[in-house]
Amino acid sequence: MKTVLLTGGTGYIGSHTAVELIDAGYKVVIVDNLSNSTVDSIDGIERITRVRPDFVKANCSNLSEMEDLFRKYDGFKSIIHFAALKAVGESVEKPLEYYSNNLVSLINLLQLMKNGGGGNIVFSSSCTVYGQPDILPVTETSPYKPATSPYGNTKKIAEDILRETINVNDSIRGIALRYFNPIGAHPSAEIGELPLGKPDNLVPFITQTAIGIREKLQIFGSDYDSQDGTALRDYFHVVDLAKAHVLALKRLEETRNKTGFEVFNVGAGKGITVLEIVKTFEKVSGVKLNYEIVGRRAGDIEKVWADTSLANTEMGWKVESTLEEALLSAWNWEKKIRQVKS
Ligand code: UFG
Repeated sequence: MKTVLLTGGTGYIGSHTAVELIDAGYKVVIVDNLSNSTVDSIDGIERITRVRPDFVKANCSNLSEMEDLFRKYDGFKSIIHFAALKAVGESVEKPLEYYSNNLVSLINLLQLMKNGGGGNIVFSSSCTVYGQPDILPVTETSPYKPATSPYGNTKKIAEDILRETINVNDSIRGIALRYFNPIGAHPSAEIGELPLGKPDNLVPFITQTAIGIREKLQIFGSDYDSQDGTALRDYFHVVDLAKAHVLALKRLEETRNKTGFEVFNVGAGKGITVLEIVKTFEKVSGVKLNYEIVGRRAGDIEKVWADTSLANTEMGWKVESTLEEALLSAWNWEKKIRQVKS
């Protein structure tokens, strides 16, 4: 049985990926410092898969803690690196924390991989590296745009670190998945997104408003160039994103990669407005959402969606779930964690 290390594996995308990896026959080891998640997701993963992943509480940016972990498991040949700070606004307030946490963790992992004779790494990148693209849909060869936040910059620099390290270390192979906007939860409602405090992201804010935790959703901006004036993003189901990680890892393990370091867009390939999300949520949940339209959010881009041809043809990946299914799963998860009967 192949072992894979999931850093940040108790978090939103990590926990869904753990489920897909276990279902695909992997032994999963999770390392997480629980700064933005809890071990409850380990229980959720176990309830879904009937297998409990190993869990080690440690900080990926602490080299000695990582050395202990690698010693304990005799190294790792496959790593999926999710662990990162991810609040765009907070990163502007605390740039050093973001650069140090997000980059040192990656450097530690690459150093340990190199010392252990190499291996495969899948990295959580983001469409944030494209900024506002000039041409839509955006392809992997579109240029990087200057990052609008330290968080965004960590993703760009991390890709550079991976590319430059892999260029001179044949034993390491890597894939960066550039996520667009993953939403939703596992259909079992055993795991899902659990933001601490006020959510930054649209869908958790919608579900928390619908359940009554938030008074109303603020829609940021109605003067964008779109069918209804609200901003366009590429929303897709988190379970589909989780499956992309399994395919990326297999591609590396089976050395089907064309170059040592590859990048793939992962999204549904369609631009959806904020108002369309609200309307679709109302339809699938049967709840009328309280919202108001306010000014634009600083740093937001107008529109971005993916050309996913490369992931489709090279990795054999495609979205399987609809927007309706994704939003319904997010709503079912919200109800479950708040213990509301439908
Ligand atoms: N939005 C609202 N109200 C809210 C929250 C969001 O109107 O309360 C709008 C935003 O203005 C945006 C859309 O909903 O137009 C999506 O916002 P999210 O915060 O959910 O997602 P973003 O696309 O802004 O950000 C996401 C990730 C970031 C990543 C970025 C890359 O959360 O980590 O994609 O583009 F950097």
